[in-house]
Amino acid sequence: MTPEQFIEFARVLPEPLLLVSGEGQLLATNQPVADMLGLRRQELREKMLFELVTESANDVLKYLQACSSSRAMVIGSLTLRKNDGQTLICRSQGAVIQPWSPESSALILLRLENRTLATSNFVLLNQKINELAKEVQRRRQAEEALQEANQELEIRVEERTTALQETLKELQLTQTQLIQAEKMSSLGQMVAGIAHEINNPVSFIYGNLHHAHKYTQDLLKLVQIHQQVCPNAPPEIQEQIEEIDLDFLIEDITKLFQSMKVGTERIQEIVKSLRNFSRLDEAELKQVNIHEGIDSTLMILEHRLQARHEYPEITVIKKYSQLPNVTCYPGQLNQVFMNILANAIDALEPSANNENQKLTKNNPQIKIKTEIIDEKWIEVSIADNGLGINEQVRSKLFDPFFTTKAVGKGTGLGLYISYQIIVEKHNGQLSCFSAPGKGAEFVIKIPVSSVS
Ligand SMILES: Nc1ncnc2c1ncn2[C@@H]1O[C@H](COP(=O)(O)OP(=O)(O)OP(=O)(O)O)[C@@H](O)[C@H]1O
Ligand SMILES: [Mg+2]
Repeated sequence: MTPEQFIEFARVLPEPLLLVSGEGQLLATNQPVADMLGLRRQELREKMLFELVTESANDVLKYLQACSSSRAMVIGSLTLRKNDGQTLICRSQGAVIQPWSPESSALILLRLENRTLATSNFVLLNQKINELAKEVQRRRQAEEALQEANQELEIRVEERTTALQETLKELQLTQTQLIQAEKMSSLGQMVAGIAHEINNPVSFIYGNLHHAHKYTQDLLKLVQIHQQVCPNAPPEIQEQIEEIDLDFLIEDITKLFQSMKVGTERIQEIVKSLRNFSRLDEAELKQVNIHEGIDSTLMILEHRLQARHEYPEITVIKKYSQLPNVTCYPGQLNQVFMNILANAIDALEPSANNENQKLTKNNPQIKIKTEIIDEKWIEVSIADNGLGINEQVRSKLFDPFFTTKAVGKGTGLGLYISYQIIVEKHNGQLSCFSAPGKGAEFVIKIPVSSVS
């Protein structure tokens, strides 16, 4: 830029501008510079910059050097010596517009700014910036507080939801347990009721059977005596004797009474088992024969063991040892036998989605073994030769509501309840041994008497 071009350019600008050489010679100035100094523009021509300022020539040259060697605007401070003797502190911004070369000196454009004005603007700006920064800070803090509160709220909501879910689960469990207990108790009551109703007429029949037998024997004896006394009976009597086949009748009636006796005794046994199973006294601790409990449970499940059209008969092999009576809650123990035996039968029954059919078609079996471990403990093992249980299922066997059975078929509570009864009520142990294809064995260990 030549001084002429600069003058042309600076003429229209309102801020004070100077074009100086790297050595500090004023090459051109605009009117605002002259106004600032209180001089005419002509008076400024050919002057050196340090003649117009209070700073030393050295300082001024250093500043101009800094301007000419920097690509950016260099800010400095110049104190103008005004014509009226006063001084004016200015902020100066210097930029090189033509760098130094061996042929020509550097050209530097200086822009002056009254410091007092700039400072007050600067202060105002600073205030604004400070206020803004404070506002930003305040908002940031508010946002952080909000986020924190939000997070806390979320955590609380989550905690509350978890607590509610847990309560719901507990309630569902309690409800199902109650239903199950109610079911068992009504089953017990029904069984006890039926047993009672059957017991009366059966006792009546059984009681009279002996007399009926004796009376018929007496009558037959009478017939015999009559035949001996009157060997030639009139033809009507002869005919009647032949018609009723008296000889066969005499021979058969004794057998008949014998089988009626066996039959009623069997009914009485069933009734006893039903009563034993129902155990309405289950709230009380009793000393009982464990085998009776197992047998009566088998009796209740008898119909499921028998062969039906598509199901072969399930053989029950019992290996009972001589066991002492065990102090326990007999009704509850029967419930455990019932759950484990029913599961074994389920595992042996062929079903659409069960490959057991192939496996146990010919010899579905349940082995029940009882043993004394020592003078304090006994063990009952119930094993089936069904499909067995894989590791994944085995790890969840005793969890409430865990079932692999179809909806409506299993509630998944049988083993959970059994576990509670054995472990918590009887201080015993309940374990399962199984592998896929190898059947399943459930082992109950209970103390003979130490029930808390
Ligand atoms: N003897 C067994 N053989 C194979 N699987 C078994 C046997 N016993 C139990 N299981 C498995 O354990 C699961 C849980 O048994 P559990 O008795 O607790 O419930 P469930 O029989 O399914 O239902 P519920 O007994 O409440 O009617 C069964 O669904 C079954 O998958
Ligand atoms: Mg079950």
